[in-house]
Amino acid sequence: MRIANLDFKDPLIIASGIIPDIPEVMMRICENYEPSAITTKTLTLTPLEPHKPPTVIKFHDGCYMNAIGLGNPGIGIVEKINLKKCRLFVSIGGNDAKQIVNSAEIAENKADIIEINASSPNRKGYGESISSIVHEIVKEVKSHVKKPVFVKIGPWDNALEIAGKALEAGADGITAVNTLKGLMIDTEEFKPVLSYGTGGISGKCIYPLALRIIKDLYREYEPDIIGIGGVFSFREVLGMLSVGAKLVGLGSVILDKGFDVIGEIRKDLMNYLNEKGLKLEDIFAIAVKK
Ligand SMILES: Cc1cc2nc3c(=O)[nH]c(=O)nc-3n(C[C@H](O)[C@H](O)[C@H](O)COP(=O)(O)O)c2cc1C
Repeated sequence: MRIANLDFKDPLIIASGIIPDIPEVMMRICENYEPSAITTKTLTLTPLEPHKPPTVIKFHDGCYMNAIGLGNPGIGIVEKINLKKCRLFVSIGGNDAKQIVNSAEIAENKADIIEINASSPNRKGYGESISSIVHEIVKEVKSHVKKPVFVKIGPWDNALEIAGKALEAGADGITAVNTLKGLMIDTEEFKPVLSYGTGGISGKCIYPLALRIIKDLYREYEPDIIGIGGVFSFREVLGMLSVGAKLVGLGSVILDKGFDVIGEIRKDLMNYLNEKGLKLEDIFAIAVKK
């Protein structure tokens, strides 16, 4: 598959926020499990403290909610990341265009793709909060960096409108989707389970939502799409490819099953394609064209 003029041997990548922001750990995961790409946690110009625990809960089979709040050591960490067998996608965030441009300039030294997080629901002023100025942000970033720029959107009602603004401003592709804001109440204490209050729902519960948005997005704009949301097996990978995603991100499934799941999904996917005599390209957008 070719996305943003880069070739990928298989579509499996690791979504943002799943691997600790420790360069040695990222390098070891790349060596041992060989995802096509690793996306960093969202990195900001200066470090941010995470919210207080609990920050991640599992509330149902394969369903998670988190509010880490974009805690991260700052964008400077990318200088120490050297991946040999995987591409590096650097997720960046900030609470205004200038911070994001500055982060993009630093990310550019190492990133194959820069992904602007315009969708995390877990920190006021960041992520989702900046989706209303996505056009301005993308225009600024694109005028300062040469590397491909993707914008990560959330599973919202106005997802297509936000994606349209990002693409109009020059984004090279869209990552869809981030988590959806939710709430869990502890029914002994009658207060939120997560310390932040609300959190982003991820995992199996959001797969149909992600799929619908990716299909709408592809039908409307045919952009390069990184599909993310509730992928737990090769079947969901096929589903995402069939509605127009070229790469597929693994997130909660890694929290649930560990890193070995990358190889398992890859093997199942390749077995399926071999048995059917198909290539990945044959599946791409097949459910949209019909
Ligand atoms: C613990 C956790 C941390 C996350 N942190 C980030 C983040 O820093 N930036 C971001 O863009 N997305 C973040 N995400 C969202 C994931 O990248 C992904 O979009 C989302 O979880 C949906 O995919 P999934 O259902 O496969 O988990 C995080 C998700 C989880 C579960």
